[in-house]
Amino acid sequence: MGDSTAAKVADLLSQMGLDEKIGQMSQLNGGGGHLPEYLAEAMRAGQVGSVLNEVDVEIVNEMQRICVQESRLGIPLLIGRDVIHGFKTIFPIPLGQAATWDPETVKQGAAISAMEAAAKGVNWTFAPMIDITRDPRWGRIAESLGEDPYLCSQLGVAMVNGFQGDDLSETGSIAACAKHFAGYGAAEGGRDYNTANIPENELRNVHLRPFKAAADAGVASFMSAFCDLNGVPATGNRWLMDQLLRKEWQYDGVVVSDWESIVEMTVHGFTADDEGAAYEAVSAGIDMEMASSSYRDHVENLMAQGKISLQQIDTMVARILTLKFDLGLFDNPYTDPGHFSAPLNRSHLTAAKEAAVKSCVLLKNEQRILPLNKSDTNSVALIGPLADQPYEQLGTWVFDGKAKHSVTVLEGLKELLGSEVTVNFEPGLVSARETSRDGFAAAVTAAEESDAVVMVMGEESFMSGEAHSRANIDLPGIQEQLIDAVAAAGKPIVLVIMAGRPLTLERVVEKVDALLYAWHPGTMGGPAIADLLFGVESPSGKLPVTFPRMVGQVPIYYSHKNTGRPASEETCVRMEDVPLGAPQTSLGMSSFHLDAGFKPLFPFGFGLSYGRFQYVKITTSHHSIALGETIDIFADIINAGAHPAEEVVQLYVRDLVANVTRPVKELKGFRRIFLKPGERQRICFTLHTDELGFFNREMNYVTEPGQFHVWIGGSSDASLWAEFEIHE
Ligand code: GLC
Repeated sequence: MGDSTAAKVADLLSQMGLDEKIGQMSQLNGGGGHLPEYLAEAMRAGQVGSVLNEVDVEIVNEMQRICVQESRLGIPLLIGRDVIHGFKTIFPIPLGQAATWDPETVKQGAAISAMEAAAKGVNWTFAPMIDITRDPRWGRIAESLGEDPYLCSQLGVAMVNGFQGDDLSETGSIAACAKHFAGYGAAEGGRDYNTANIPENELRNVHLRPFKAAADAGVASFMSAFCDLNGVPATGNRWLMDQLLRKEWQYDGVVVSDWESIVEMTVHGFTADDEGAAYEAVSAGIDMEMASSSYRDHVENLMAQGKISLQQIDTMVARILTLKFDLGLFDNPYTDPGHFSAPLNRSHLTAAKEAAVKSCVLLKNEQRILPLNKSDTNSVALIGPLADQPYEQLGTWVFDGKAKHSVTVLEGLKELLGSEVTVNFEPGLVSARETSRDGFAAAVTAAEESDAVVMVMGEESFMSGEAHSRANIDLPGIQEQLIDAVAAAGKPIVLVIMAGRPLTLERVVEKVDALLYAWHPGTMGGPAIADLLFGVESPSGKLPVTFPRMVGQVPIYYSHKNTGRPASEETCVRMEDVPLGAPQTSLGMSSFHLDAGFKPLFPFGFGLSYGRFQYVKITTSHHSIALGETIDIFADIINAGAHPAEEVVQLYVRDLVANVTRPVKELKGFRRIFLKPGERQRICFTLHTDELGFFNREMNYVTEPGQFHVWIGGSSDASLWAEFEIHE
């Protein structure tokens, strides 16, 4: 907060009555297509600090006018909206954007989304969602940036910078919001809103890292999580919200509750009633209450009882006013859409397509069946319930994007192939959940009569996102049976999956020749997928999350601990290989499942391309470095394939012995490179010993001397490794 802003805030605070201060702490829901009189009255009385879900710019301007011109102190509004992966132009879902491993792409998408939202008067988005999760059953994994703290931190900061720009008061910049603080992604059973029990050491070493990165990057606000964290709801968790966020991290931005999460503390059984909930939320430092009215109803009374102080309220209101000054709202609260480029313009759509291209992950390409070749393909059978579903391909959390603007795979293929290649489209199923086989015969006939077969399947948009967890994460409905039916035509099958999470595809992968994972790719998913299938682009995405073989393996993730009995090919046996009557101790006594082994279907960081990348010759600049020094790690990468392509080179480290057990691998760097066929490039990563630190038993962040292993490769399965040590 600049001095002049601080002075302005102090001056304004000094003029405010308690009811006006409580008004600033209240966020009400809008969006009914008109401005209800009760809301206008509340604004005139200075009882509203923010409105969410109003995106009619005329109504927003009228709301601002009433607040500025008709209320006593003329304080403008924060206008909040979930601009999660696009506004009108929809980008891939955040999990798909994470698969780009490209901060610049993620930043650009956020900047475009901010511009389109700001044109409607939105000045605050409730994004990025930077919850770490290792549970694909959880519907909100779709909104996340994956399982890894380092990747999530890098991309979450990119999103913050994209939304907020260099200056919050600039036209097109909007305030970002790091959410959901904290531990929400560890919801028990993958059931949304469920309990999160995370030991503090794990919380600090894993779940809090992206939030600290966002705070250090200047994110304008935080949002409290719905869940109870270790028995205390995040929204009333003073250790989390005050001790850690305010005192230890010195964060002074706005904290907003999640939707009614303050009054839900009574449902949790943490408070007896709304008054108690308001008391706990104020005591934790939740500056603004979303949607519910416990602050408006009880803060004055709590003060009268001496339970909360005016100083606490002033501190919270000051943070809200500071954000409004930083956004320039006191200088100009109004929005002129004429100051913005049109939404869905060519450059926005191009950016959305490029993001979709980079987000797709090639998981299988048997006999290099892909890319398909236009010149020797006269016809393509396009089959599957998601091949022409403009709404489903947008994915979850799309409030302002419209299906009518989507370009589907069917349309993208037709556009790319023109009259040269015939597209025989047969959905086979009317939806992903469909159980009728009525469309199977036509789909099989299309496959029989075509040179190539492309199937587009997966999940409906609704099957992921908030409150949409699944216990069985197979392909829904009878999509797998449709694959079986089409496979009988004897043609190679290219399968494209659209989904909001990793699906369990162990059987499916065996039945197809190529598998391209497109997540929910957004408005331009169709042209992006068409370009990838026909080699106009090469797939370069890498998995931001581990794919289990079966849901019983969950949680399964790459940065696991070694345990005292790590599984290996030698110690891991399959149930079918065990002789009948085998005695109890006859197995390799290590950590695996008899019916699944210990490896995922696809590991974190994995992704194929049309190039063929070989990693050779890893070296380090030093064998040993002192605390506080840096070390360079080099490796050569060769594109031994026939196609030019991009590769995301990844750096992993292991701390072999430490004050608390450390993961067998941790991502510490990544970089996208482009290599022509035959080209060789030397990559160098520089690591500072601080980057090898962790929170120890005493919860101090330390880097300890000792032995480290380091890998460079194209996935967390990297095998090219070296070692170095850190000495005192
Ligand atoms: C929802 C979500 C949160 C969102 C908010 C406003 O329940 O949990 O992520 O920003 O309410 O829509």
